[in-house]
Amino acid sequence: MAHLTPFRRLLKLFHPEGIPSPGTKLYNKISKTGIFQRNYDLLAQDILRHCKEGNCLDVGMGPGWLLIKLHKQSPALHLHGIDISPSMVEKAKTNVRTAGLAGIIDLKTGDASHIPYGDGSFDAVVSTGSIHHWKEPVRALNEIHRVLKHGGYALVYDVLSDTPQSVLNEAAREFGRLRMLLLWLHAFEEPFYSRQTLEMLPEKSLFKQGSTHFAGVLCCLAMKKET
Ligand SMILES: C[S@@+](CC[C@H](N)C(=O)[O-])C[C@H]1O[C@@H](n2cnc3c(N)ncnc32)[C@H](O)[C@@H]1O
Repeated sequence: MAHLTPFRRLLKLFHPEGIPSPGTKLYNKISKTGIFQRNYDLLAQDILRHCKEGNCLDVGMGPGWLLIKLHKQSPALHLHGIDISPSMVEKAKTNVRTAGLAGIIDLKTGDASHIPYGDGSFDAVVSTGSIHHWKEPVRALNEIHRVLKHGGYALVYDVLSDTPQSVLNEAAREFGRLRMLLLWLHAFEEPFYSRQTLEMLPEKSLFKQGSTHFAGVLCCLAMKKET
């Protein structure tokens, strides 16, 4: 937590790691809306630039929309998701079943700090909007490193506390200024990372290095497990 300002450190202290019920129900509803669904499309496109086939794990998959989009855009991927919140896993199972993908996308309860898979299981590990919830981010990155195959990518996306104005302006063209204002305000009540503090994480982990880029309004921390 040393990377956070005193205010955000306080936020983090009270911020729940997993989204509990009934928050699950609310998040499931909000994430069905157009802006979220468009965002999952952009994220899926970004992920597919790094990995088109093989095994892919989504850590903190929430209601599972990204996994559903990934399957639609690249059916060759074998998709798995974990979430620390059992009620979120139930929501994701319902959404996956409704999309006709039960038995195709594998979902289970699991913590980013103790990933319930063996070493070298995945070609890519992705995560969206979850890292700011993690109480032990470096430990979680080391777990992601462990379950990745050599040469595989970790792609960790989140909203930043300091999203550049140019990114907000670009997104405002598609989503409108009001929504971008709401996103900007949201950044004050969640313990999001700044771009600089996000970029400091890899060197503390087994990845040792990483880089950042934007996919829509989310910043991606991309790290490769060297061969
Ligand atoms: C804001 S939601 C994002 C969900 C989804 N990835 C999305 O983009 O819509 C954050 C999710 O991360 C999960 N989560 C938080 N801490 C976690 C941890 N340590 N391990 C696994 N999941 C976690 C929460 O339960 C929640 O479902």
